[in-house]
Amino acid sequence: MTRSSPYVNWLKHFEARRGLSLDAPYDRPLAERQGREALARSLARFELGESGDGERIRALAAATGDTTYAHAIELFVEEERQHAAWLKTLRERFDGERLETHWSDSAFVVLRHLGGLRREICVLLTAELIALTYYGVLPLAYEDPVLHAACDRILLDERGHVAFHRATLSHEFARMPAPARSAAVLTWRAFVAATAKVVAWDHRHVLALAGMSRTEFERDVRNRARRLAHAVRSPILVGLGEVADEPV
Ligand SMILES: [Fe+2]
Ligand SMILES: [Fe+2]
Repeated sequence: MTRSSPYVNWLKHFEARRGLSLDAPYDRPLAERQGREALARSLARFELGESGDGERIRALAAATGDTTYAHAIELFVEEERQHAAWLKTLRERFDGERLETHWSDSAFVVLRHLGGLRREICVLLTAELIALTYYGVLPLAYEDPVLHAACDRILLDERGHVAFHRATLSHEFARMPAPARSAAVLTWRAFVAATAKVVAWDHRHVLALAGMSRTEFERDVRNRARRLAHAVRSPILVGLGEVADEPV
């Protein structure tokens, strides 16, 4: 652990959560309801999205020279892999097929490779904000105790991820001239809005089951991005070493 690293508390945060199992009533059989296939397809897509090896962000974190940050990133990637494992369990519970590839996942991967740490974090945060809305809505789409328990648990983790990446982004943005920072934030918010539109269309059947329109889904994600952008542009309010609740 690097003594002077501002990420010491974040590393503790991830270490404390490591290996926590998902407390869900797996022995309860899935009740057959309308929309099971739609849930299965939607879960398979998110399973794929959560199952990356984090190679790029791990390399970028290692390149910062802050071994504490690099270690925290390793544990963050581990949590995302755990989400993928829980989604696999859910997808199998809903009798869905595993997806090998999906165009939206490829698009995220391509974008992530366009730039350095700042851009990588922006793309990760886009996925995290969409996850917050998605895992909040998903339990409304199908009454199942295992689905509900998994979504509640994943949501807790994702809130931590947003706060963790927000701290890094605030620090990165604080080093930019104000006009460049404003342009970057506006570009990122446009990217979030466009991505939310695509995801809402892709998961429209699940949203319909949950009683949420695509417009409402997109608005919810955009509002999270607006609140997060405000927090990111106020770096003084968010210290790197401060393990705070996410503001979105
Ligand atoms: Fe996740
Ligand atoms: Fe996450």
